Amino acid sequence: MRKTVAKLELKQLQKKYSPKVIPVRDISLEVEDGEFLSLLGPSGCGKSTLLRLIAGLEQPSQGQVEIGGKNMNRVAPGDRNIAMVFQSYALYPHMTAEENIGTALKLRKISKSDIKSRVLEVANKLGLEELLERKPAKMSGGQRQRVALARALVRNPDVFLLDEPLSNLDALLREQVRAELKFLFKQQNKPVVYVTHDQTEAMTLSSKVAVLYEGQVQQLDPPRRIYTHPANEFVASFVGSPQMNLFTLKCEGKAAILGDFQIILPDMPAVPPHIVLGIRPEDIRLAKPEDSQTIEGKVYLVEQLGKENLISVRIEGSDITLRALLPADRNWEGDKLSLAIRDNLIHWFDVKSGDRLNV
Ligand SMILES: Nc1ncnc2c1ncn2[C@@H]1O[C@H](COP(=O)(O)OP(=O)(O)O)[C@@H](O)[C@H]1O
Ligand SMILES: [Mg+2]
Repeated sequence: MRKTVAKLELKQLQKKYSPKVIPVRDISLEVEDGEFLSLLGPSGCGKSTLLRLIAGLEQPSQGQVEIGGKNMNRVAPGDRNIAMVFQSYALYPHMTAEENIGTALKLRKISKSDIKSRVLEVANKLGLEELLERKPAKMSGGQRQRVALARALVRNPDVFLLDEPLSNLDALLREQVRAELKFLFKQQNKPVVYVTHDQTEAMTLSSKVAVLYEGQVQQLDPPRRIYTHPANEFVASFVGSPQMNLFTLKCEGKAAILGDFQIILPDMPAVPPHIVLGIRPEDIRLAKPEDSQTIEGKVYLVEQLGKENLISVRIEGSDITLRALLPADRNWEGDKLSLAIRDNLIHWFDVKSGDRLNV
């Protein structure tokens, strides 16, 4: 069998509704066969618009969409061989699950018995065998979502597009379906573009994550890299839970001033007057004698998270609050703590541009 190459490529894509509404400003990226790309960003940053441009439901103001090396700009949505799954599921209410799943195949020249066997095969994969005769009104949210997924899978498209497909499910089910999705799409070997505002989904599912903000890609990297090396202050604050501590500090000599303490700056051609220091709550721990860089402060708030406590510490000589994840086996309330701020775990950002300064 011929191996299909359905690489998806976006070239300097822009969508402008009016001079002030430009949800997609200038986006270029590639998704190869078998790659799972998440578009991650806050509500309103242009994720759905970008997906609709790929699907052909919107026309770009500039740039182009290519699939398998072919320009799709003038190709109608129905001829792009793309399968899309929406948050709302978009099932036909008068059709059974079986009919909903098979409906896209009916438009093609496929025999009834072939349709039936393909629908059954996909229904099996998604655990829908028992539901095939049921109509959407008689299904739970999770079941409807599975039918919507099955309908996308059965078509064997060149590209999969999913727009917040899990956000209508409750937390437990979301986690379950997320794991199933990862497994399902691994077998497809097609480009997948998955829109979400949920960082856990993006981190767990993707081979690559594009963090979007204001219609632009802020960072395009594997999930691990996004977490360890956020490209700018926006990515640093958006990815990671609890959120990274971010402080704008004054620089003096080769150090940044954090309350009564000095934090050594990274190597830089010139020391700026101010700098942004970032450190994740999970990267802070109680100081040990061998730690060279420590700060002190008093605990004024403890939030229990189960395995760990999220501790808010007021840093001595300042009104800055630092949040640290520390073991839950001790009552920290009111304690004075000495905490290690290790060089290799600090993220430095430019005050003006927000760009990352350390490698
Ligand atoms: N058809 C449209 N006409 C005008 N503005 C639109 C249209 N579609 C989306 N927008 C605007 O574009 C911005 C991005 O929307 P959207 O892509 O839906 O964001 P997201 O999916 O990231 O939440 C929003 O400010 C939205 O109001
Ligand atoms: Mg959206």
